[in-house]
Amino acid sequence: MTHALPLPADLVTPCLVVDRDVLERNLVAMADRARDRGVALRPHAKTHKCLEIARRQVALGAVGLTVATVGEAEVFADAGFSDLFIAYPLWAAGPRGRGLRALAERVSLRVGADSSEGVELLAGALVGTPAEVVVEVDSGHHRTGVDPERAGDIAVAAQRLGLPVAGVFTFPGHSYGPGQVRPAAADEGQALQQAEAALRRAGVDAGLRSGGSTPTAALVEPAGLNEIRPGVYAFNDAQQVELGSANWDSVALTAAATVVSRHGTSIVLDAGGKVLGADRSAWATGNGRLPDHPEARVTALSEHHATVTFPAGAVLPELGSTVRVAPNHVCAAVNLADVLLVTANGAVVGQWAVAARGRNA
Ligand SMILES: Cc1ncc(COP(=O)(O)O)c(C=O)c1O
Repeated sequence: MTHALPLPADLVTPCLVVDRDVLERNLVAMADRARDRGVALRPHAKTHKCLEIARRQVALGAVGLTVATVGEAEVFADAGFSDLFIAYPLWAAGPRGRGLRALAERVSLRVGADSSEGVELLAGALVGTPAEVVVEVDSGHHRTGVDPERAGDIAVAAQRLGLPVAGVFTFPGHSYGPGQVRPAAADEGQALQQAEAALRRAGVDAGLRSGGSTPTAALVEPAGLNEIRPGVYAFNDAQQVELGSANWDSVALTAAATVVSRHGTSIVLDAGGKVLGADRSAWATGNGRLPDHPEARVTALSEHHATVTFPAGAVLPELGSTVRVAPNHVCAAVNLADVLLVTANGAVVGQWAVAARGRNA
């Protein structure tokens, strides 16, 4: 059992609840870690999409924010955040290009690229603004990003078209698997160093080596990286606990859910996939976890139901009681909510709008 404070009484479930003190501990710990290692922290705001949390991250020393889309960038720019990195190989055609240019005219902006075609579109949108390109390299996740040895080609293409190049970035998403964190962190640092050398050989002098991921942040080596972009660390989730990158005491966001049905060794909760999100990695032990009942597993999820199965002989929560559920992937759950209820010492003390909710373009 964990030592979590009880949930406030009279919550209308399902709802997402943030424990303010746990959140603060997580934010401070990552800010301290970045400071101790001598790397810049640029948290990914897609996790919380909340102005209040982003303000606290910057107050604790973050150099700026990472976002995934122009829409997210617009929400944070409107709120006064002045240093944004869209860590995504944006396809800046048509209206998206015009939106990007408008952003670059009012904030300090960096944008990812991993092809010369993408760079051409970025140039069409951005030339004449101070916006900088960051070349994305593949460190082993095999999603986006070029081979580190090819980073110089993209950087040269950008410079020829009049776009300044800030450096290179990668997302070591292959850290998301049991036993994968340490090798992925090594790949991440190595790929960024290789890519920086490739830029130098191509005559591009650019110093940014930006890495990411919550699991690898614990292993960051300044020789490989000089910026980190973790996002999930603010809240943590069931995946981070199952990977060993967090423990139940550092899970700051949970869905509060009511036990609406009970049969044998299972209960059914009123928080389904429309609240928890449906992400489930092949290695996850279920569709979410109950921090106060680590022995239980969410064994099935439908839109408005989560089935939770307990081992034989376990004491099941009462019908009508409220329990906490940690989503597998907290970013997906937050994007489904309008507000996050903020709690401290077992009472609701406020609520934060999910300001960039649904800004997925
Ligand atoms: C490009 C990029 N950077 C940073 C992150 C943040 O990593 P994490 O979700 O592990 O906190 C992500 C997450 O998907 C990402 O895609």
